[in-house]
Amino acid sequence: MDCGIPTSPSGSRFETFPDDRSGGAAFHVDGVDFAYDGTHPMFRSLALSARPGEFVALLGPSGCGKTTLLNLLSGFLPPDSGRITIDGETVTPEMPALGYVFQSPQLFPWLDVLDNVRFGLRMAGRLPEAEQRDKALAALALVGLDAAAGKFPHQLSGGMQQRVALARALVLEPRLLLMDEPFAALDAITRATLNEELLRLCGRLGQTVLFITHDVEEAVFLADRVVLLDIAPAGIHSELTIDLPRPRRLRETRRLERFTALTDTLLERISAIVAAA
Ligand SMILES: Nc1ncnc2c1ncn2[C@@H]1O[C@H](COP(=O)(O)OP(=O)(O)OP(=O)(O)O)[C@@H](O)[C@H]1O
Ligand SMILES: [Mg+2]
Repeated sequence: MDCGIPTSPSGSRFETFPDDRSGGAAFHVDGVDFAYDGTHPMFRSLALSARPGEFVALLGPSGCGKTTLLNLLSGFLPPDSGRITIDGETVTPEMPALGYVFQSPQLFPWLDVLDNVRFGLRMAGRLPEAEQRDKALAALALVGLDAAAGKFPHQLSGGMQQRVALARALVLEPRLLLMDEPFAALDAITRATLNEELLRLCGRLGQTVLFITHDVEEAVFLADRVVLLDIAPAGIHSELTIDLPRPRRLRETRRLERFTALTDTLLERISAIVAAA
């Protein structure tokens, strides 16, 4: 398939764009206890799994532990007990299967866009420079920014910077993408565009995604399943399967009665959590 995207000689997944979700990793959080400083319990016997290629959105009131859970899943925080595995292996922060996108793009201001995206490949030092550049350009093409490769972060809009952050994660070909409110700081139109682009990319690359958001409609639009966290240390309040058809386009999907029913259900559950707090 010719997607107009530069190819590299390495045979990366960017060249093949599988339409299935087999490029994703399964993760399992099993019986995890975690307390900050041993005194501030966040989770007790937490259990959560995702199947390869599943898009899981994580919702919950501020302070309930969403970012903490993401940091546990990435291996940055070790659990006090229990086990967290990705494709059966105990997680570590160095796992090549992991990619991150945070609320702020956190680009290096002194590097141009291409070198920002190339940074992880350069640090890994496994590929010749020309191939690193090819891959970075291909990742930028995926997010529609190959023409901006020579620009510096301050020359980009907020939405473009967040696209670069996404390309920086995708260039490492992660099998699990961890996203912590990645579009929260963007205006509604840019956010809507990036939501649709993210789904298009997931359809092509097939990675598993854990996506944290406060926005119920964003969660329902994107996800296969929404996981709702209760006030800590209660853990998971409930889950909701999002049985909306794919591919999804924001305007069409939001008009579906089922979309309204799912968002209403989640809003009611969140109100109940907050009321009980
Ligand atoms: N490094 C830390 N040391 C001690 N307590 C922490 C630390 N990081 C977070 N906490 C506390 O743990 C709780 C959960 O924080 P976390 O950042 O996981 O919440 P969150 O659900 O992501 O919230 P938000 O929606 O506001 O981002 C909060 O009470 C927070 O103050
Ligand atoms: Mg958070």
